[in-house]
Amino acid sequence: MALKLFPSLFLLFLLNFVVPCVLGFGVFEVKHKFLTHAQRRNIHLLRAHDARRHDRMLSAVDLPLGGNGLPSETGLYFAQIGIGTPSKDYYVQVDTGSDILWVNCISCSRCPKKSDLGIELTLYDPKSSQSGTLVSCEESFCLSAFGGDVPGCTSSNTPCQYSVLYGDGSSTMGYFVTDLVQYNQVTGNSATRAANASITFGCGAQQGGDLGSSSEALDGILGFGQSNTSFLSQLASAGKVKKVFSHCLDTVTGGGIFAIGDVVQPKIKTTPLVPDQQHYNVNLKGIEVGGSLLQLPTDLFETGDKKGTIVDSGTTLTYLPEAAYKAIWQKVFQNHPDISFQTVQEFSCFEYTENIDDGFPEVVFNFENNLTLHVHPHDYLFQNEKDYCFGFQNGGLQSKDGKDIFLLGDLVLSSKLVVYDLENQVIGWTDYNCSSSIKVQDDKTNAIYTVGAHNVGSAWRSESQSSLLLLLLTIVLIYMFI
Ligand SMILES: *[C@@H]1O[C@H](CO)[C@@H](O)[C@H](O)[C@H]1NC(C)=O
Ligand SMILES: *[C@@H]1O[C@H](CO)[C@@H](O)[C@H](O)[C@H]1NC(C)=O
Ligand SMILES: *[C@@H]1O[C@H](CO)[C@@H](O)[C@H](O)[C@H]1NC(C)=O
Ligand SMILES: *[C@@H]1O[C@H](CO)[C@@H](O)[C@H](O)[C@H]1NC(C)=O
Repeated sequence: MALKLFPSLFLLFLLNFVVPCVLGFGVFEVKHKFLTHAQRRNIHLLRAHDARRHDRMLSAVDLPLGGNGLPSETGLYFAQIGIGTPSKDYYVQVDTGSDILWVNCISCSRCPKKSDLGIELTLYDPKSSQSGTLVSCEESFCLSAFGGDVPGCTSSNTPCQYSVLYGDGSSTMGYFVTDLVQYNQVTGNSATRAANASITFGCGAQQGGDLGSSSEALDGILGFGQSNTSFLSQLASAGKVKKVFSHCLDTVTGGGIFAIGDVVQPKIKTTPLVPDQQHYNVNLKGIEVGGSLLQLPTDLFETGDKKGTIVDSGTTLTYLPEAAYKAIWQKVFQNHPDISFQTVQEFSCFEYTENIDDGFPEVVFNFENNLTLHVHPHDYLFQNEKDYCFGFQNGGLQSKDGKDIFLLGDLVLSSKLVVYDLENQVIGWTDYNCSSSIKVQDDKTNAIYTVGAHNVGSAWRSESQSSLLLLLLTIVLIYMFI
């Protein structure tokens, strides 16, 4: 799920401005919010600030993961964190397409009370936590979140409010609070110790759309974007971690691995991140299907403010510009003229009794620096009862001037270890068994430790064998990008 933090006074303006989006095969208008000069400057200042940091005690962090990215299951992944004193557990969707952490708060007018995901939901109450404090609009966090002056900020008693609009049209509004967030610091092979840091996050007072009502509800969202309002950036600024994290999303058993810290095993190849983009943008160079390179217009692969290829763990599927979608479809099905498709919840599905990995070609995305992303037939053809459905989506994400973007979601990111190295501004991945473990290096001691897979709240499997119908609710799209 990609989301963008908005100063709340701007929201009305944006809602007027933004064309509502439709799930499924519709065309999505993506509006741009351009960075102001002040915001661009902040990014550079932040980098300089990061480079100056010293006395760091950087260690690795193990975030227990649950959920399943399969469109026919939950379509999302979540992590477990603790908040407050005494600490209570919260389950938050992990989303590399957004920038803040927020949880449903006690004062919430339309928040989910129960979830089918096998987890207990908890409303956060800043007053009942000994370490919770409200953030005033005069604090630097608020100024930084707003990218400058906070409109309507007249006194230090005014709370710092936020509104976030999601790609699927849902939203959250609330105010910022600061409290201790508890996480698992890696201290040995598959061993952790509870550690905490003071983190500013959103106290969600009002949720709109599916966030207020979905049966697959969570306590909130943990944005792993690059902005310095993110949980990761705040941990890094406090000298607790390096700005390097990785995920391995397990579609086979659910859950997987989510770790902060340098990965030393497996070895991965990387591709540079496109600089100064709000989301994780990479340079896509070409697409191969079954070993042959697709002939596609080169402007499809341009990057920049209005185009590009975004990597987003918060999106269930994968969205392609129409030309790429059609070319892939044609190659994938060229040896199967007999297949008859039926439309199930706007997916194209078909019956197939043999092994799909033998019957269909691999799709390979080629990125700058020779990094490839291998998408196997069992990844892009997801199973729905006895049928298989084509997971790539046609178009969907369009910039104002009609350029389609590529949005790589869990459909292609699952069963891979994906490493986001923000210190070196690169991202990389390799095919991996997400039920196994990785090795991370502790920066403080140089020791190398194993971080294993988790599957939090796996009880949902027996209770909710969700159908595609449920799933469309959790398919989320990027909406704002720069
Ligand atoms: C974000 O960066 C800006 C500019 O460097 C700084 O003023 C602000 O304090 C930072 N905010 C956080 C939460 O670190
Ligand atoms: C936070 O960490 C400190 C130092 O390790 C510890 O004394 C305290 O109990 C922790 N608090 C919570 C709420 O986890
Ligand atoms: C990428 O691969 C091609 C062919 O395999 C090779 O010629 C080229 O040198 C490689 N480039 C890099 C940067 O490794
Ligand atoms: C993946 O790793 C787990 C745990 O080590 C192991 O039980 C399982 O057999 C592995 N799966 C494959 C396909 O190798």
